[in-house]
This record gives sequence, structure tokens and C-alpha cells, in this order.
Amino acid sequence: MYLTSEEERIYEGERGWTLQKAMQILVAIGELNGAERLIPIKSAHVSGASYKTIGDAYEFVERLQGRVAVRTTLNPVGMDLERWREMLIDEDFAKKQRAVLSAYEKLGILAECTCVPYEIPPPRSHPLETSLASSPFRPREGEHIAWSESSAVIFANSVLGARTNMEGAPSALAAALLGKTPLYGLHIPENRNATVKLLICDEISDADFGALGLLTGEIVGDSVPLFEFKGIPSEDELKQLAAGIGATGSVGIFHVKGVTPEAKEDMISEVVHVERSQLRDFLESCGDAGAGVGSSGGGGEPDVVAIGCPHCSLNELRRIYKILKEESKRSRRSKVALPFFIFTARAFRGSEIVRRIENFGVKVFCDTCFVVSPAFERFSCILTNSGKMWRYAPLLSQRRPKVILASTEECVKRAFS
Ligand code: F3S
Repeated sequence: MYLTSEEERIYEGERGWTLQKAMQILVAIGELNGAERLIPIKSAHVSGASYKTIGDAYEFVERLQGRVAVRTTLNPVGMDLERWREMLIDEDFAKKQRAVLSAYEKLGILAECTCVPYEIPPPRSHPLETSLASSPFRPREGEHIAWSESSAVIFANSVLGARTNMEGAPSALAAALLGKTPLYGLHIPENRNATVKLLICDEISDADFGALGLLTGEIVGDSVPLFEFKGIPSEDELKQLAAGIGATGSVGIFHVKGVTPEAKEDMISEVVHVERSQLRDFLESCGDAGAGVGSSGGGGEPDVVAIGCPHCSLNELRRIYKILKEESKRSRRSKVALPFFIFTARAFRGSEIVRRIENFGVKVFCDTCFVVSPAFERFSCILTNSGKMWRYAPLLSQRRPKVILASTEECVKRAFS
């Protein structure tokens, strides 16, 4: 791989051990993938921030010196940084988690601790009144970035038209420190073309998008899909689709007819029809990875409801509040009857909508999520609207809980019954 003379000097260690290690990582990845050179990036997003998943490997991050070269955000950690006691997190874990966070913050990484960095509102603005389009955290079309966190990568490529490969935590961190990434994969326009068209024959909504994402990974493998829906999906639905695809597939981009700027049909070589009933069949065929869609999947009685994987947007919070209000009235209960957790970005902490949601007995946590925190290991049957959580919660919990995937309405309804 070609390196400029300055990059050579970094590689040789003339700019210090940290940048040398970062350059070695990028060169190794670049050479493995046939990259010709490095290109500048506008932002980075680093995963591997929860002590539950990173463990003592964070000590490597502690050894790094210097500052990141571009705006860099961090994925969720293992606890709400303010309300961790309420989550029943023990002191020892909290201490270790704070050490992980300090190691990243020392490098200039912004501890936003969310998996939806593209939904962080502009700084110093009221989040409830700000258009995300003007947020510096939201990548622009054609912008090169280096993000880890599969759901965010796929969303950035597919919905925003930014360009990133599916980075791992070390390569995203190396790219952040150098402000560069190897030019290969989804940074190259030709590699972003769709080759399989998925014609969605029925109208789908809500949790169907997460289920469709899981099924898509199975159908297309590493080919790029182009979806044609009946109607135009919302951004929140596309977020669920991205998360579902990221949870099972190896593809880092999809196109949606009428939405994705790059959506073209020139390279399509295969058309697959997908019916709504296939989503249910697929999940049921997955056996003990989850219990199926809705209450008909034989998944037993949920002992917890968890929403916010990926982290809830403001629109999702508003919608959940509306459903909570309706169900509270219908059931004549003022509080939910099941433990109910929602996860969102810190920008919304203290907002009126969160306060109103919590009045129904729901806990809204920031900085963390159901999957990367050890706080939720005590539950054995989770009801969620997230395809990604359906897939990951059993894999990352020692207890291997059952997971029931259901619409947001169904989740709220069950919480009141
Ligand atoms: Fe985000 Fe946690 Fe889901 S990091 S995508 S809420 S598993």
C-alpha cells in the first residue's frame, strides 16, 4: 500500500508509539483488503466501550497517548453514567466502567455513549426543537467516515449516503487517531452497487423491519440488496432494518427505492419476493435464538419489556408515550405491570417527553442498553420490538433468555396487562 512520506515516518515510529500502532493496524487491514492508499475521514465512531464486553482489554487503550484527529463518538457503555445505582450495578463494575470511559476520554473521544451518533442533536441546542439535518454529528452524503457498530455503519451508508466499512473497535480507534482509513470496500462507489432486489410484497411496519433485516442477512449473504417497499419507510423503520441486517449479515449497505440517493437497478442480477409470512417462519425456524414473532411464538410469559435497540430517537420516544397513554387509559392502570426499560441517547435525558414516559413506571436509561449492560441478566424472557436484540440478547447473556419480537404496540399492551 502506498504511504506518503509523513505516513512512512509514522509507520516507522517517528511520531510516537501510539500513532505507530494505529498506522500498523490500518496498513495491515489495507494490505489485506487490497487498498492502494489511505484517505482522510471526517469522523469516527468507536464500539467496545462496555466493560461487560471489552473486559480488561481496555488497559491497552489506557496506554495510548495523544488525541484523536477527527470528531469521534463512543458506543453505549455498561451502565447509565448517572443512574447506575438504580440499575443495581455494583461498585466494582462501575469503577471499571469509569476507567474504560476515562481511557477513551483522555484521547479526546466524546463520551456520548450512543449507538445512534447520527441522531445526536447539534451542541448547545434544545434537542426537542432542533433539526438533525444541521447536526455536525450526522454524516453527509459522500463523506468518508470510519465507524464501528454495525447498525450505525449500515444506517450511515444506506440512509445517509456516507461511506464507511464495517470497522471493528481497534480499526475505528486507529482511524480516529490518524484521521484516515484505507481506501477499499464501501469507500469505493462500484462496491456499493446493489445486485439483489428484494421486492417486499406486503405492507410491513414497526418490528417487521427488524425481522426483515435478520432475514435479509440470510438471503443476500455479502451481496448488496435493493429493497422495494409498498410505501416509503420512516427513518426509524430503516434504523431497525439496518440493525437487523447488521445482526446477521456481512453486508454493510442496502438501498431503498425512493430513499437511498445511490439506489440504481443497473447491476441487479436476481429478484427475490418476500412476503410478510416469511418473516414469522424465519424467526420460528431459528429455534432457541428467540421465541418467534408476537405472542404466538410459544415464547412463554415475558418478565421484562425492553425497547431502544438501537437507541430510541425523539420520534420513537414520542410515539411510545402516545401508546403508553392510550394503553393506560384502556387498561385503567396508571403504571405498567412489568419491568419496562427504554434506552436512548443522553441528549434526551431530562426532557419533558422522558419525564412523561417515566410517569407510567417505565425506566428510561441513557449511555447504555439492555444487551451491553450486566444489569439485565436477571430476566429470562424479554419482550422487545428490536430484531437486533432478539438476536443478541441470548448470545451475550449467560442466562440465554428467550426473546419475543413484537410490535411496539404489543410490547406496551403486554406491559400493562
Ligand atoms: Fe445499540 Fe445496544 Fe442495540 S449498542 S444497537 S442498543 S445492542
